[in-house]
Amino acid sequence: MAKDTAQDDVFLRDLWYFGIVGDEIKPGQMIQQERLGELILFGRTHEGEAFAMTDICPHRAILLSGGEMVRGETGTEVQCPYHGWRFKPDGQCAFIPSLTEDQTKAMEIDKIRAKTYRVHESYGIVWIWFGYDHDAEPCLPPPTLDIPEDSKVRIFDECDFHCDMDAAVISLMDPAHIPYIHNQSWWRTPKTMHEKQKTFGPIERGFSMLPHKPSSNSFIYKLFGNDITTEIQLELPGLRPEYMKAGDKHVTTVTIVTPVTADKTIISIIIYWNHFAVNFVPKFLIRRAIRIFMGQDSAAVDSQAIGLSYDPPQMFIHDSDIPAKWYLALRRGWEKHRRDGVEFKNPLKEPKTLRWRS
Ligand code: FES
Ligand SMILES: [Fe+2]
Repeated sequence: MAKDTAQDDVFLRDLWYFGIVGDEIKPGQMIQQERLGELILFGRTHEGEAFAMTDICPHRAILLSGGEMVRGETGTEVQCPYHGWRFKPDGQCAFIPSLTEDQTKAMEIDKIRAKTYRVHESYGIVWIWFGYDHDAEPCLPPPTLDIPEDSKVRIFDECDFHCDMDAAVISLMDPAHIPYIHNQSWWRTPKTMHEKQKTFGPIERGFSMLPHKPSSNSFIYKLFGNDITTEIQLELPGLRPEYMKAGDKHVTTVTIVTPVTADKTIISIIIYWNHFAVNFVPKFLIRRAIRIFMGQDSAAVDSQAIGLSYDPPQMFIHDSDIPAKWYLALRRGWEKHRRDGVEFKNPLKEPKTLRWRS
């Protein structure tokens, strides 16, 4: 396999990452996002097709997101704000206004290309592929969730963590911090801590806290009736769907961890449901709860990032830190697999029950 990425690349590749929620780009709109240290312009053609290209103009590097999307001769074109060069969604240059007709022919402007990225839109999310070899075809199909692909995004929110991707993922898989960091009377407190056991099983490139009855000390779950089960999965690179199901009704909260740079990570929370009871919960309350929880986690990992910048050793204890160890093993295993051809093995071979107090 070709490798065009430096050995000190900190990002895990050959994976689909979260790009943007599809609703954020209406036809004819574009928006800049930073992903894996690259400035990316996500856009949607006037016909409704999502695309992604570099936000940096191949001419003289001004940001294309400051320009506009126009209907050119070839269809939707991104017009640079600086000198008006235009690019098709596939990156090909379509027009350089300063050239005379004979200069246009002599220059073969269609050989000029803006870097583009493969995208796939499903579950209301535009996923973006990052490969070790940028030009190689994706080696994986786009992510799948256990809900219909046309499920509507009901709630979407995001939060920046000033830490690397690993610290962010680990914070989401860590049961022991909950009564301390999320210490609020209506949720958990250290006083309500009790012994728990949860069984985990392997899934592709990840693991699952297998379906179980939600914690008895989380009164919020009681809203959804008695036969409710919860399953929480974690799949590389940082996809963490939590399925709450009662019969054929579900509330699915997908938390996605995406590296922006080596030390900035974005946490995106997308909620889907087909459970009528949730329609009666005011959305601003759900948003406020997300903000409270994410704010607590981001304050914790921001503080931890300061500690980690001094390069101390970290301890991972039994059993509450085991999911963190599995994640780190998955990450290392995937990198070795894709970069060195070593067979990928899930660190979790068979279902395993972990016990902790939280
Ligand atoms: S910098 Fe984009 S057209 Fe010149
Ligand atoms: Fe948390």
